[in-house]
Amino acid sequence: MIDLANPLAWEQADAEALAVLSDLQGNILKGHGRRATRHLFLKFGDDQAAARAFIRKIEPLLPSALAQLQQARAFKAGGPSGGPFVAFMLTAAGYAALGVANRAPQPADGGAFQQGMRARAASLADPAGAALDPGYRGDIHAMVLIAGDPDNDASWTSNAADEMETRILNLMSNSASVVASEAGRAIFDVNGHGLEHFGYVDGRSQPLLLREDIDNERDAMGGIDVWDPAFPLSQVLVQDPGGGSASAFGSFFVFRKLEQNVKGFKTAEDALGDLTCSGELAGARIVGRFENGTPVEMDETGALMNPISNNFNYSADPTGRKCPLHGHIRKSNPRGESATKFGIPLASERSHIMARRGITYGRRTSIVDPQDQPEGGVGLLFMAYQQNLNNQFEFTQASWVNNENFVAAGVGRDPIIGQGGVSALRHFSECAGHVGEIVVSPFGGFVTFKGGEYFFAPAKSTLATL
Ligand code: HEM
Repeated sequence: MIDLANPLAWEQADAEALAVLSDLQGNILKGHGRRATRHLFLKFGDDQAAARAFIRKIEPLLPSALAQLQQARAFKAGGPSGGPFVAFMLTAAGYAALGVANRAPQPADGGAFQQGMRARAASLADPAGAALDPGYRGDIHAMVLIAGDPDNDASWTSNAADEMETRILNLMSNSASVVASEAGRAIFDVNGHGLEHFGYVDGRSQPLLLREDIDNERDAMGGIDVWDPAFPLSQVLVQDPGGGSASAFGSFFVFRKLEQNVKGFKTAEDALGDLTCSGELAGARIVGRFENGTPVEMDETGALMNPISNNFNYSADPTGRKCPLHGHIRKSNPRGESATKFGIPLASERSHIMARRGITYGRRTSIVDPQDQPEGGVGLLFMAYQQNLNNQFEFTQASWVNNENFVAAGVGRDPIIGQGGVSALRHFSECAGHVGEIVVSPFGGFVTFKGGEYFFAPAKSTLATL
């Protein structure tokens, strides 16, 4: 059996691990790395046999985890690009609509996968009904993720991905309909780091599931001694009962379209900077990192780090004097504070971490131009793989970021993604004469949930034999 209790050294994989990697879809153990994506949300028609035949036909287009890793290694060594990337996921309703509910995973996740995201709106404090984009108000059976590289840096789309989409839609014919579609496009700062639309480096902190990635991180950082980025395969992998072999694994997947009010956020950030005389530091304290990615916990000057560090925790800052207790990255990964503040073991806290694979959507002429600050139409297509939807995504959203009493009593909701209301937060002042004084002021409400769903990314052998 493959060892799920540890990361995997894929370049030294034995026959069993190779069998798993050859059947597992890509993007789970490591991001696909392409810069433009298409997301097709499908509803199957009444002809179950036709819908199953469509899935069998696109299965060969899906690179396995092994193929993805080999292609990425060859590309890094100067070889050709791996070309467009495709992944395919099913909802519980999708398995049922295909007439194969008996092949769906049956996770112990409090009903999350079976019920789907809309049924969980109350516990997540998600907007519902007419507040959602129309395509997300009804049933979704599947999502096809297509990713490619734009032909040049200025292009918002990828011809290779668009051609792949046309090919898939042709294969689909009328066995399914597209109920929603999204286009993602990664954006970058001058240092080549991926950004989100509020202008902050995103995606730096990830659970690393491959030994090679962990070794690279250790080498790049000159050692890792505070925050261990290594996670076991079981953080994201579960046995896929649909595949019919012990090598069949899949992963649960959350998709959320999160619209960002850039103008609202940037205006509030500036006002907070003025109120507390802290300029850029005010925003860094909201996120937990400066725009350039430097963790505010490590350096309050915000000097650019090369590489940007992920080797920190909050043990020397229990009151949040450097990184406020409400900072987005502190609420969404407390890095050991569950133990110091609530007596919850570190291993239990780490079990909530997801492999985030999000991408920004919506076009901007310039991300740094103060005149180009949309109030809507841009945001984050938040995506994450995990072993258990309830213990990972739902726990993070409901028990950490939406919870006013986490990381400590009265801390308030996450100012970026907290839902259920906007909290009055305690901000530090740097104003002459009263440095360190606390200013209480509400901050939040600039990210709006527009719809999403829970999926399972099955093994290729499941899809090939539907
Ligand atoms: C529009 C919505 C969002 C924005 C603008 C945003 C922004 C950011 C930024 C700038 C970072 C710092 C980069 C990094 O450490 O990788 C970050 C980290 C993170 N975010 Fe978000 N995020 C959003 C949504 C979410 C959601 C929905 C979740 C989970 C429910 C989430 C969980 C995390 C986690 C776990 C980290 C890493 C924390 C760490 O390990 O230190 N984010 N986010």
